[in-house]
Amino acid sequence: MASLRPFYFHNTNIIFCVLFILFFSLAFSLQQSLLLISNDTYLDIDNSEVPKTELFPEILRDEAVGRLNELGQVSDAHGYLERTFLSHASVRAGKLISNWMEDSGLTTWVDSMGNVHGRVGGLNPSRKALLIGSHLDTVIDAGKFDGSLGIVSALSALKVLHVNGRLEKLRRPVEVIAFSDEEGVRFQSTFLGSGAIAGILPVSSLHIRDKSDVTVQGALKDKSIVTNEDSLLHLKYDPESVFAYIEIHIEQGPVLESVGLPLGVVKGIAGQTRLKVTVKGSQGHAGTVPMSMRQDPMPAAAELIVLLESLCRYPENFISYSGQCDASVVESLKGSLVCTVGEISSWPSASNVIPGQVTFTVDIRAMDDLGRAAIIYELSNRMYQVCDRRSVSCLVEPKHDANAVICDTGLSSQLKSAAYAAVKKMAGEDVGEVPVLMSGAGHDAMAMSHLAKVGMLFVRCRGGISHSPEEHVLDDDVWAAGLAILSYLETQM
Ligand code: GLV
Ligand code: MN
Ligand code: MN
Repeated sequence: MASLRPFYFHNTNIIFCVLFILFFSLAFSLQQSLLLISNDTYLDIDNSEVPKTELFPEILRDEAVGRLNELGQVSDAHGYLERTFLSHASVRAGKLISNWMEDSGLTTWVDSMGNVHGRVGGLNPSRKALLIGSHLDTVIDAGKFDGSLGIVSALSALKVLHVNGRLEKLRRPVEVIAFSDEEGVRFQSTFLGSGAIAGILPVSSLHIRDKSDVTVQGALKDKSIVTNEDSLLHLKYDPESVFAYIEIHIEQGPVLESVGLPLGVVKGIAGQTRLKVTVKGSQGHAGTVPMSMRQDPMPAAAELIVLLESLCRYPENFISYSGQCDASVVESLKGSLVCTVGEISSWPSASNVIPGQVTFTVDIRAMDDLGRAAIIYELSNRMYQVCDRRSVSCLVEPKHDANAVICDTGLSSQLKSAAYAAVKKMAGEDVGEVPVLMSGAGHDAMAMSHLAKVGMLFVRCRGGISHSPEEHVLDDDVWAAGLAILSYLETQM
């Protein structure tokens, strides 16, 4: 027995070693096959312990943030960001975006309104396409996320599919569009880009003039884009060729930050009107014309602006309950009406001259279209009365009008699930309901709603600040946005 014991132990050791090796080989090959599978099924929304590598931080966060910073430097001005319709910087930005589109495996082109497109046909190139977009133009002294975030995160999500060999597995074409104009800064007419694609841009828009007297058509020609009324009409997409339009955008308000969540889904977008008001008086010498004998358009303009403020702060005091405006319309106005004078100029604009003319812009937004129309009616009437009393002449010209838009409920609920999945994967735990928000800001989705059903996701921004260089989105929120689009694109496979 004594001699058997070592032999017995020896045998046991061997058996143990063999079992040990077998177990680890099995575990190793299981891990390898899981890795292989994971290349194909990297989005498992029920898995709350997703390895970081499967969240693609290098592409969806680091590269996306780098690109946003790079785009934020592409400006026509020194020291601040300004990129208006078809400016030199806009064209440079378009080229950058076009390169990133190619890097995501998309086929690219620039259309005759300066929109930059990137498209992949997927398994069925003739099926209705999913369009994803936002704008590449900016306001003056802008932040670097408004518009750009939607373009960059869509391209990041598609790049993840591309590098994983999944882009061609999309069951419908997907097209990213970087729209040339949403802000309407240069021509005071918004959606020159998306409006053309949606077929709502009147051909007369080609003849609108900027402050330097350059027409839209002339601005296009300066950039070697030959556009006439025919080519503009041809830009309209056939609604039968489009499945839906989605847009990712910074919230530009404080709600997501206040609830501590990076993403929200948009229920609807407020309608908006832009007006140009011109007040004409009698130009004269600041030192010689007695106050009682002046027809000064400047104090008249000041009174008109204060009138606008009162009307929009207390619409219930101005709008009668008769006709189309019932109590619910007035209630809705009280909750959502906002009015702004953002630009004012005078001629000849010298400190010792009573101006001959003052011009200012008016921007009016509300969720209720009837209420907005009633406000504009009331405002114009009262403005003309003020001008009569002050013996100056007034002209109130409509420059832009877009009705409120309600996002598609089915699409919104899919985007909500995608946002939920993205945030849960990043947090590694349940994060609660994705908030549903209304948008006071205008978006290309407003124009695109004339072509197809639309859905939008909002991304949290610091302090709710936008249209300012203070605009900021956390790197991880850029990541969440990219992951949410990726999650949504997964539903299109
Ligand atoms: C666009 O940013 C707008 O709402 O004016
Ligand atoms: Mn904007
Ligand atoms: Mn915007």
